[in-house]
Amino acid sequence: MKKKFRKVAIGVDVGGSGIKGAPVDLKTGQFIDKRVRIPTPENAEPVEIAAIIGEIVDSFGLPDEVPVGVSFPAPIVRGQIPFIANLSQEWAGVFPARLIAENIHRPVAVMNDADAASYAEVYYGAANGHQGTVLMLTLGTGIGSALVSKGTLVPNTEFGHLLLPNGMEAEHFASSAVFEREELSFEQWAKRLQMVFAHYEMLFSPDLFIVGGGVSKKHKKFLPLIDTNAPIVPADLLNTAGIVGSALYAKQMLPEE
Ligand code: BGC
Repeated sequence: MKKKFRKVAIGVDVGGSGIKGAPVDLKTGQFIDKRVRIPTPENAEPVEIAAIIGEIVDSFGLPDEVPVGVSFPAPIVRGQIPFIANLSQEWAGVFPARLIAENIHRPVAVMNDADAASYAEVYYGAANGHQGTVLMLTLGTGIGSALVSKGTLVPNTEFGHLLLPNGMEAEHFASSAVFEREELSFEQWAKRLQMVFAHYEMLFSPDLFIVGGGVSKKHKKFLPLIDTNAPIVPADLLNTAGIVGSALYAKQMLPEE
């Protein structure tokens, strides 16, 4: 591969509302081209999403050896999606890397979206060099979680589905989709998040919380209203963390050409 592309990988983040991708310079964690976003079609079937991923990847016109990392809003267990909460149920049982490889002829690695975001934060952001337990939460269509201890990720935690003391699933009570759908004020939403964060703090005793997802851009409006023993900080990479983290993961997981 040409030297100038050796430290480049493409990251794609599949979300409930949009599929976003960009080529990333892995030395800096910065995009080297404009981010492309295509809205997630309603009830999008796996083949449809795989085609969109192919379209996004092709749009950058990079050499075939540049690898692709794709993050999904679902756990990825031994390459397979066991269940999915917020996309078509057709995804359950799918091996996404195999499906995507039918559309793009380059190496592909897949991972959970919150895990990808935490990867980026460990390498380039708020968790860099942290020697304790970090719990990253991404607030979006669902609530994603990533648990990192001394820089090492415990993959596929699904804390967004934990039941809160009020009997509700955390993401049904306090995701940013719920915040929008129920037209909550930031104060009302912060009260809900308070219950979520307090519950996680009781269960996992993190030394640091990192909050990511699109709404982390507005962190000043709600993070100061949440009171926990551990500090809470916004993701340094804000909502680019999913793309950057999956690109980095692809480069690390896939053999060099
Ligand atoms: C999924 C997780 C995902 C999170 C954020 C949850 O519904 O089960 O895997 O990380 O949403 O997208």
